[in-house]
Amino acid sequence: MALTGCSSGSPDGPAASSAPSSGASSAPASSPSAAEDGATATEGSPEWPRTPTLDRMPFAGLDVGTISDNHRATHLVVPQLAGAEPLNSRLRDQAQRRAEQFWSDSEGSEVSVAPPSLSGSWQAVGVSRDIVGVLTSVTEFAGAGHSIEERTTWFDADADTVVEPLDLVSSDSRGLLEQRVRAAVDALPGAEREMSPSSADTAWEQLRDGDVRTWFTPEGDLAIGFSEHTILASSAGTPAITLPASDVEPWLSDAGRAVRTAVTRPDVEAWNAAHAPATAGPTSSAPALTPPVTPAPTSSSEAAPRATPTAPSAPSATKKPSSTPSAGRGRTDCSVKRCIALTFDDGPKPATDARLLEILARHDVRASFFMIGSSVDAFPGTAKKISAAGHEVGNHTYTHALLKPLGRAALDAELSKASTAIEHATGVRPAVMRPPYGAYNATVTTAIEAHGMRKAMWTVDTLDWKHRDPAKTLAIVKKEAAPGGIILMHDIHATTIEAVDPVVTWLQSQGYTLVTVSDLQDG
Ligand code: NI
Repeated sequence: MALTGCSSGSPDGPAASSAPSSGASSAPASSPSAAEDGATATEGSPEWPRTPTLDRMPFAGLDVGTISDNHRATHLVVPQLAGAEPLNSRLRDQAQRRAEQFWSDSEGSEVSVAPPSLSGSWQAVGVSRDIVGVLTSVTEFAGAGHSIEERTTWFDADADTVVEPLDLVSSDSRGLLEQRVRAAVDALPGAEREMSPSSADTAWEQLRDGDVRTWFTPEGDLAIGFSEHTILASSAGTPAITLPASDVEPWLSDAGRAVRTAVTRPDVEAWNAAHAPATAGPTSSAPALTPPVTPAPTSSSEAAPRATPTAPSAPSATKKPSSTPSAGRGRTDCSVKRCIALTFDDGPKPATDARLLEILARHDVRASFFMIGSSVDAFPGTAKKISAAGHEVGNHTYTHALLKPLGRAALDAELSKASTAIEHATGVRPAVMRPPYGAYNATVTTAIEAHGMRKAMWTVDTLDWKHRDPAKTLAIVKKEAAPGGIILMHDIHATTIEAVDPVVTWLQSQGYTLVTVSDLQDG
């Protein structure tokens, strides 16, 4: 999709778009503060019905796959559920295609304002014994413009198939659905009716192709949402139409009714009871994927009793971060000892972290983990285990967004949502923060400090995410390690975990004491 020239760098972003909608209108309510001053282009958009999302996702058998390229500022996280392979492969394929499109689009284009970036996160939309729905949001930044694409993917575990948008209604009702969708889109302010394709043509094509968000309102109305700049101009935001329950009811298929129940009465326990993996063990036995994809093994013990779905992100800039639990060990004096810090970014990820924790415990060393808030919300149990083992947990934003192009409000949301997720899971508010891709400017630094954190960069880049070779990771550490250093690795890759034992063994043989980043910064 082409980027649109938003004049503002402050999208309200996928992470901040979880307000459930109770309205059932197909017309947008205009925002009272819709100032057309150019600096608040996003805030000036009409208020469309929003896709409702479940705040926390304690799914049994949940893992995440990541498509990432740190040199091309790409980080897409997709959920992977045990026993839901059609859903998993659909989500992986969508993300992979999107990343490849982004890489080919940004090839050779020198953007001077800010480097292009692509970040993707997800949330659950609905769940029942047999149904699960996932909202994926992908944000692309280039220069001063950004675009957000969102779509829902529904999965029917009983039929072991993805439920396409048109499968929500019976096949003989599709003609009626098409008429009503076209009429509703035609009625939208700003809809293109004369040109070909018209807004209605595009809407129907998007619906057929599955490039839409579908959900049901609490009243049972069918809602269909579209990405920016698809059926309306980008200034209109992300349009959505709703079709009244009374009209839709006779058209619904069995799958459509099941999806409606999963949204209006979500029940994660029912899913977990039916789909808990028979054997839980953090072994990496997933099929190999194409190289940039982290395979998702099927094990998780995250299905803890559901936490109260609280809305995160109360501004908490004034709240003092707690200090890292020292797990009974005394603070190391790095002015006397040869200290070095191991850091692991982009988790938590249950399968790889379980092995990593064993290795670190065997060597009796502590490390720092810079976690993505949305993954913490998905795997609070793993985040808690890491913190409880005495490791430091730092903030790595909520969606792994490139922070430099963001306005202050979006920056604050990325930081506070991640800190809240971490505090919720571990009981400790993070004191350190690492900007994704190591990219920051004065605004970013100011925001990090305003949230009570210190920025933590690195001195040794193992490039583990790129070469995926434990021997190379060790070789780079041997070459570049120095007292006071900070080593960057990524705990979402099995090949990184393989490197940790040799790396720690070698560092200790050189007389290094392994500490957390905060220990090092406190000197
Ligand atoms: Ni990262």
